Amino acid sequence: MEEQQKKKRIFSAIQPTGVFTLGNYIGAVSNWGKLQDEYECIYAIADLHAITVMQEPAALRKNTMNAFALMLACGMDPKRSITFVQSQNPHHAELSWVLSCSTMFGELSRMTQFKDKSQKHADNINAGLFTYPVLMAADILAYNADLVPIGADQKQHLELARNIAQRFNQRFGETFVVPDGYIPESGARLMSLQDPTKKMSKSDENANATIFILDDKDTILRKFKRAVTDSDTEVCYREGKDGINNLMSIYSVVTGKTYDEITAEFAGRGYGDFKTAVGEAVADHLEPVRTEYARLSADKAYLTECMTNGAQQAYRLTSKLLRKVYRRVGFIDRL
Ligand code: TYM
Repeated sequence: MEEQQKKKRIFSAIQPTGVFTLGNYIGAVSNWGKLQDEYECIYAIADLHAITVMQEPAALRKNTMNAFALMLACGMDPKRSITFVQSQNPHHAELSWVLSCSTMFGELSRMTQFKDKSQKHADNINAGLFTYPVLMAADILAYNADLVPIGADQKQHLELARNIAQRFNQRFGETFVVPDGYIPESGARLMSLQDPTKKMSKSDENANATIFILDDKDTILRKFKRAVTDSDTEVCYREGKDGINNLMSIYSVVTGKTYDEITAEFAGRGYGDFKTAVGEAVADHLEPVRTEYARLSADKAYLTECMTNGAQQAYRLTSKLLRKVYRRVGFIDRL
C-alpha cells in the first residue's frame, strides 16, 4: 500500500484585543478555516502578545474568552484543528527566551511594527514590545510549522522568524523547519474606510474606519456608505483610487467576482450603488459568523473544554521540540 503522505503543518494566531476586524477576517482568519482539511492546523489566541500594550486584566481575560469563541465561530473546528490560548502552553515563552539569544538587536530595531507601536504608545515602550517578533517566531517554530497564513503586515515578522530558524539551525544543527508565509492575493491589506492610505485596524479612533465582524447589518451599511472614495465616478481598479480599490478588493473576496466583472456590474451606476452593494455583500457574508458566535458564547462550559483540550494538545506537540532545543543549546535535560 502506498504510504500516506504526512500533512503539512500550519500555525497562525490573532491577538485578543477586541472583536476581529474585517481586515483580520479577510486577510487571515477566513483562510485559516479553509485550510483545515488539507493541513494539520494549529491556531492560537495570542494573549502573551497582547500585553505588550497596556491591558486591563479583567478585560483581557474576557476578551480572550470572546476571541476564542469568535475564532470557532469563524469556522475553526476544535475536532479537526488544535485551537488554544497561547499563555496556556508555557513552551512559547520558554522557547522565546532561547530564540532571543539568536536574534540581533539591529534586526529587531528594523521592525516597522515596533516603530509604529512605539510612536503610538510612547509612554509604554517596554522590552516586550521590542522582542514581540521573537515570541512570534517561537509560536511558529515550536510547532515546526511549514506555512503561516497571515496578512501582509506580518510579513516582516515572518521573515525574521525564518532568519532566526536558519541561524539557529546553522549554529546548533537542523532543529527548526523554516516556515513559509501564506498571504492571500486579494485582501492581504485591507485599508481604513476613512483613510484608505492607512491599514484597517482595531484601534482606529474613527468609529467609521473599521468594520468589526460582529457589527450588525445597519452599522455595516452605514460605515460603507460613509467610506471615503474620490471625485471620480467610475468603479474600476486603478492607481490613485485607493478608496475604490479597497472596496473592490473587499467586494471581490466576498462575492468571488473579478475586478473586470465588478467594473462591468457598476458601469454607469456611480459610487452610491457600489457602496451599498459592498455593504450588503459583507453583511450577508458575516451573518453566519454572528449567529454562530451568539450560540457559542452562551456555552461557556463547551468553550472552556475546547480551550483546555487545545492547550493540552499544543503542549504535547511542543514538548519534544523543547527538549531537543534545550539539549542542543547545552542545558541539563528538562525535568
Ligand atoms: P493581529 O492580531 O494584529 O492580526 C491577526 C491577523 O490579521 C491580519 N490583519 C490584516 N489583514 C489584512 N488587512 C488588515 N487590515 C489586517 N489587519 C490585521 C494580520 O496580518 C494577522 O495575520 N503578531 C500577530 C499575531 C501572532 C501571530 C503569531 C501570527 C502572534 N503569533 C504567529 C502568525 C504566527 C498579530 O498581532 O496579528
